[in-house]
Amino acid sequence: MLKPARMRSILAYVPPHRNGIGADPLRSPSNVSALDLANPCGRLPNVTTTDTVLQPRIALPHAKPLWTPSDPRRRCSTASATYRRFAATTSPLSHADPKTARNGKTAQPSWKRAGKPRITRIVDAGSSIWAIPSASAFPIVAGVNGPQADKSIRGGPMRKTSLTRRQLLGLGATVAAGSLASASLGGCAPAANTEARKEGSDEPEPSQEGVEYELNPQDGSYTAFTTDYSHLFSSMQVGSRTVKNRIVKSGATSRTVSQGAGFSDDVKNFYGSMAAGGVGLIWMDQFVDFTGKAANGNTPIANDEDAALCRQFTDYVHDQGALIGMQVWGPWSQCSCDGAITAPFENRAAVRKMLSIDEIHAFQADLVHRCEMMQKAGFDGVTLNAGCDHTFSSFLSRFWNTQRDDEYGPQSYENRARILTELIGQIRKACGADFIVEVLYNGVEDNVEYLGKNDGCMTIEEAKEFARLFEKAGADMLQIRYGAYGYHAASFFTDALHAVESGNTGYGTRVDFRRHFEGKVNGQFDGACALLEVAAEIKQAVGIPVGTVGVMDPRLAPDLIDNALAEGKIDYIAMTRPLMCDPELPNKLREGRRDEVAPCNHCLTCLQAVLPHPVTVGCRCNATFGRVKDGGIKTSAKPEPAASPRKVMVVGGGPAGMEAARIAAERGHEVTLYEEDGSLSGLMTFAATVKGPHEKIADFCAYLERQQEVKGVTVTTGTKVDAGLVAEEAPDVVVVAVGGVRPALDAPGAEGSPLVKTIEEAAAGADLGERVVVVGDNHHAIDLAVFLIKRGKAVIILSGRTQEFFDVEHPSWVRYSTKAWMESKGLRVFYESALLAIEEGGVSVATNFGATVSVPCDSVVNCQPLTPNTELFDTIPADIEKHLVGDAAVFSTIAEAVSSGNQAARAI
Ligand SMILES: Cc1cc2nc3c(=O)[nH]c(=O)nc-3n(C[C@H](O)[C@H](O)[C@H](O)COP(=O)(O)O)c2cc1C
Ligand code: SF4
Repeated sequence: MLKPARMRSILAYVPPHRNGIGADPLRSPSNVSALDLANPCGRLPNVTTTDTVLQPRIALPHAKPLWTPSDPRRRCSTASATYRRFAATTSPLSHADPKTARNGKTAQPSWKRAGKPRITRIVDAGSSIWAIPSASAFPIVAGVNGPQADKSIRGGPMRKTSLTRRQLLGLGATVAAGSLASASLGGCAPAANTEARKEGSDEPEPSQEGVEYELNPQDGSYTAFTTDYSHLFSSMQVGSRTVKNRIVKSGATSRTVSQGAGFSDDVKNFYGSMAAGGVGLIWMDQFVDFTGKAANGNTPIANDEDAALCRQFTDYVHDQGALIGMQVWGPWSQCSCDGAITAPFENRAAVRKMLSIDEIHAFQADLVHRCEMMQKAGFDGVTLNAGCDHTFSSFLSRFWNTQRDDEYGPQSYENRARILTELIGQIRKACGADFIVEVLYNGVEDNVEYLGKNDGCMTIEEAKEFARLFEKAGADMLQIRYGAYGYHAASFFTDALHAVESGNTGYGTRVDFRRHFEGKVNGQFDGACALLEVAAEIKQAVGIPVGTVGVMDPRLAPDLIDNALAEGKIDYIAMTRPLMCDPELPNKLREGRRDEVAPCNHCLTCLQAVLPHPVTVGCRCNATFGRVKDGGIKTSAKPEPAASPRKVMVVGGGPAGMEAARIAAERGHEVTLYEEDGSLSGLMTFAATVKGPHEKIADFCAYLERQQEVKGVTVTTGTKVDAGLVAEEAPDVVVVAVGGVRPALDAPGAEGSPLVKTIEEAAAGADLGERVVVVGDNHHAIDLAVFLIKRGKAVIILSGRTQEFFDVEHPSWVRYSTKAWMESKGLRVFYESALLAIEEGGVSVATNFGATVSVPCDSVVNCQPLTPNTELFDTIPADIEKHLVGDAAVFSTIAEAVSSGNQAARAI
């Protein structure tokens, strides 16, 4: 047993280097003080080894705390104030929403009609505060519009980046949620600043000294909804063609075409459902690479026979009133330069090949031929992807295109654009005026891997020059993206830079949106409509339609988008994920059913790309997208109506249960959903709390709740289901979705230890002290660790797995950001470790380097994986059909839980 005094020792063990972990800076004494400084608490957990065999032990100097214990920044870092504030906030969808009251009346929830307790919505949360009495808390505290417009910084009606302390305190004292909020803020504020100052006071502004600079304060007001979407649903002229509305599906690898399926039923269902769902123009996956071979295993339209087969599909799309084309992006990466140019961007394999002039011409000719075939197959156009760092982009780029001395080199705008302008002209000549040619390219670029190393990144002025050249060459429309050099996913997911903390780059650093991307990318809306002003500026240079992509989600930002269309800032919106989530989005919005749209969560589950682990790629919220290759539900497959309606009891109101209930009811079964708690959500309350507002968990929960009403499920909350109730209700089918069981920590001293906390307690603001040991490295553990680190805690994770499998449950692009960010904040992880004992003032840990170490800490949060919960399931008699889903069956992510609930309901 370790003695407390020994726990407080400041000895650390420096192990011999091991494969793959020798470079761990945490094990290098020379780095410890630097890490201490990086830690917001100024106190890293000191590690002591008890294994006397291991040498050497090196005494470290005491870390110098950055802040004193009485520092107000420390006091405001407690989770409790923030967590309580959630309760005073509502999700965007629960704001007064004129469209929920259709036909002049609001639908009565079934549980209300049945006299059941009203479901309380879970609420969205602000998460970006850690020990900073700053404006980041403002949108949550105030629940009103954020800071004022500041044209000087952004050249457009954007928001100021921060409130003054005076504004903040004044608001903190007056807003509705003020009692909680001002308590928290008051606790943060130095004594001299605790009283709100009168507007117009001549008193000097209180000193800002010591107040942390707020990097990218978020403003939740972008979700305002008063529009009738009239501009979104107005028609658009593109060249000689008319698109029925302003909604374009941007091209995206979909796991339908791209997995060698060719024009399978999956393709037809996926894009067909979007056409039927009201999209105006669909850009399908890329279909061919520059060698003329199928890209990513696609089946190209090689001959007349292929074209005839495709016709059936394109005819179907046209019958729905939509237009459809395909995207081309060539091979990965840079083809304007050879391998001599090296850029250590990411680890993805970049094909670098200096195309000869003959190869360029062959490439162009091949694409023109493909376009002719497409046209035969009934496609309406092509979009040339010159974004990210793809082939065409590398010619436009001053970064990549540095070596050529021919007419495709960097000497002039015309030369850089020539591969595209020639191609546009050739396609126009071959396919005629009715064949739409779109160019998709970066409107502005910056280097987010090596911040500041942005020489060669495209400016908006250059993008405008290119726009003029594309228009002159005959392009019909432009789609504007941005280039986030070094972070592939961020080049099209504008929200990716907001995973974890706003501006987070995936390298543990943060973009300041006021200073990067020429200050023109809006970093205040969690990535929503981030490129609006960039597109608006480019649009001024041309007369053809200009649109943009990246969380241009009219469910999420209705007024912002409809107003931008009305004001002529953009001509159309392009999107992918909101339509993957809900292909019927356009029709639902048009019909005033916004609250029935399955909301994209920006969880990035749909694009797994970083680590080579086998992953399930599909949509978190839409169980019918992307799962067919994993043996899941067919793409976009509608639930079959039930042969005969049956009485179904669904037990558990988390994501698996709610999804099962809504699908079973949609099929025509008589469904009652039982939840033990007073409200639906299950672990989504925890998830919404710890993940914060970036992932729209609260919206998803609100959607699933609303679906119970829409589909006619009877909801009974506050009722625990046992064998007796099942017998009483006598259902035909029971779906058990009661969640898993968190095993108790199996270590001496754990039982009854005041140090041990549950995840719910930790998220609800239990007093955890400064040093928190998190036992587990699954998605619950990581989300909680991020949450705690944001609040100034020093977090130590005990992982039972190797580094390679750390946090593997999270989507890869999320993990890409999270891990580096946590490490930059002083996270310490013991891989392949085991908790040995919990003692007074700390824990002892069996490490992967053979030593037993003592880790002093103030609390231990049990984040071990959930184990199955079959208690109720086992009591259900064999003559009743039963299904075990979600965490009750196997520890799951939200995506997996939804999928299992959906599949079970289809099997009834
Ligand atoms: C699974 C997936 C694959 C994608 N693949 C491509 C692609 O092949 N080509 C492309 O131009 N964009 C691709 N994208 C980016 C989308 O076209 C779009 O720009 C991006 O998802 C941002 O828009 P959203 O916020 O509406 O999803 C992909 C997106 C997703 C989700
Ligand atoms: S997986 Fe997540 S990010 Fe992708 S479409 Fe679905 S909800 Fe949106």
